Amino acid sequence: MRHEVDFLVIGSGIAGLSFALKVAPYGKVCILTKADAAEGSTKYAQGGIAAVMYDSDSFEAHIKDTLIAGDGICTEEVVKMVISGAPERIKELVKYGVNFDKDGSKFDLHREGGHSDFRILHHKDNTGEEIERGLLQAIHDHPNIELKENQFAIDLITQHHLGQRVTKHTPDIECYGVYVLNGDTNEVDTYLAKVTLLATGGVGNVYTTTTNPITATGDGVAMVHRARGVVKDMEFAQFHPTSLYNPAERPAFLITEAMRGAGAILKDMKGNEFMQKYDERLSLAPRDIVARAIDKEMKMAGADHLYLDARGIGKKELINGFPTIYAKCLEIGINITKDMIPIRPAAHYQCGGIAVDMKGETSLHNLFAAGECSCTGLHGGNRLASNSLLEAVVYAHNAAQEAVDRVKRVAINQNVPNWNAEGMVFNEEMVLITQTKKELQEIMSNYVGIVRSDLRLQRAFDRLNLIFRETDSLYNRSVVTAELTELRNLIACAYLITKQAMARRENRGLHYSIDLL
Ligand code: FAD
Ligand code: SIN
Repeated sequence: MRHEVDFLVIGSGIAGLSFALKVAPYGKVCILTKADAAEGSTKYAQGGIAAVMYDSDSFEAHIKDTLIAGDGICTEEVVKMVISGAPERIKELVKYGVNFDKDGSKFDLHREGGHSDFRILHHKDNTGEEIERGLLQAIHDHPNIELKENQFAIDLITQHHLGQRVTKHTPDIECYGVYVLNGDTNEVDTYLAKVTLLATGGVGNVYTTTTNPITATGDGVAMVHRARGVVKDMEFAQFHPTSLYNPAERPAFLITEAMRGAGAILKDMKGNEFMQKYDERLSLAPRDIVARAIDKEMKMAGADHLYLDARGIGKKELINGFPTIYAKCLEIGINITKDMIPIRPAAHYQCGGIAVDMKGETSLHNLFAAGECSCTGLHGGNRLASNSLLEAVVYAHNAAQEAVDRVKRVAINQNVPNWNAEGMVFNEEMVLITQTKKELQEIMSNYVGIVRSDLRLQRAFDRLNLIFRETDSLYNRSVVTAELTELRNLIACAYLITKQAMARRENRGLHYSIDLL
């Protein structure tokens, strides 16, 4: 089927929904999402959203903390723009119906690693769920917005689909819309749009252990890469220091950094503190430093986890302030008011992604990107905690402003052909996909994880080449499915992470190689 819309949004997390609400008064909006509407990383966000709301804190301090965490390579102009825009965007979220916890008439603020002050707005320890609930409600109430679930975006439509040769040197690549696998009919539909926004989230599933939901397979990044757009900073894959050690569980359950902000302390297998060996900010040092320290302690002790000791926080504060974590741990026999919590690092956030300018536009005309799939320059080499949800709302706002103006000047391209599935056969052997996915995750975790080396990166690169060729060949002869396309996207992202890691000849932020010491 062919569909025509003014604004096409791929993804229903905080970035996609915020953008949709802003452009809806100016045209017809269609949001496509590959799973249930609420599924995505947004729903799982615990700690909260960073913003300077009161005079006791300052923009300068938040800017400084972001630049320090980013290890000298954030784009300063972007950092200033995002942080000074935060209070307005928070007020909008509240207007849409999102509730943040209050202490009297003021917001109750938490503190997380790398922050010099208490500035994290939150809703208990399930902030993302509350944001997603509030935004979805506002979307449902809007007459100009249509939201369709189980719609899997496969590829961006560009001049390539009109028979023209497109390379990464082609100066004016244009995006006309997206080919989408309709999960209800199993047909590939053609969505033509004046403006398209990618808000497809992260890529944690390239690693074996991740806090990300199964939907985080880097689809947007891979689509832009295939369309010859610019993708950058992918070497900066962020590992969260404290995911709950519960090996059978995927995704890994997060233990929010806000717990360390409230006083919880990292301890080794013998119950001793160890962060004093690594950083004077101890358990509240920026994430890259803490994750590397845990990785090192685990390797030295031959352990598969360490501990977070939250017992000093106090029973009442733990149960009231962290009810989700308290209940989750109790489920597996850990009473966090009495027992230490077993933790290990897990792949958590992709700082790199689709390169965008300050208006959120990608290197392809009329294609915007926001949220985790984008790379704005805010995070540099390492994202500061709780700056991600903030970046998503600020860039959804900027992109919406530009898109509303753009939509008046762009016409739908009617020459786009429909998807051609002629000669394709059904791949009946799921093992070809599941086994390759496992191999990919092992390669990335062992060779392109928290600590890297030249040899490990080269090994990863060679092995990725092989599974890329096998999977591409399977893809080119098979009827398209979501599973196979996700695998292909994960391989493309793994390739970008590895290649960009090989190109960075310095230890910077999250990229750390023993050969560059
Ligand atoms: P997502 O919320 O991930 O949404 C992506 C959407 O795109 C989904 O709807 C998905 O189904 C859809 N999609 C993907 N591919 C396709 C496709 N091919 N076709 C159609 N649809 C597609 N950040 C903070 O700032 N503070 C926190 O406290 C915090 N806590 C976190 C806790 C956890 C456990 C995790 C995993 C992340 C956390 N983060 C936090 C990071 C933050 O939640 C994410 O970066 C942010 O929510 C990303 O929002 P998004 O809108 O870009 O993507
Ligand atoms: C957390 O709550 O620790 C996650 C915060 C983040 O990823 O920004």
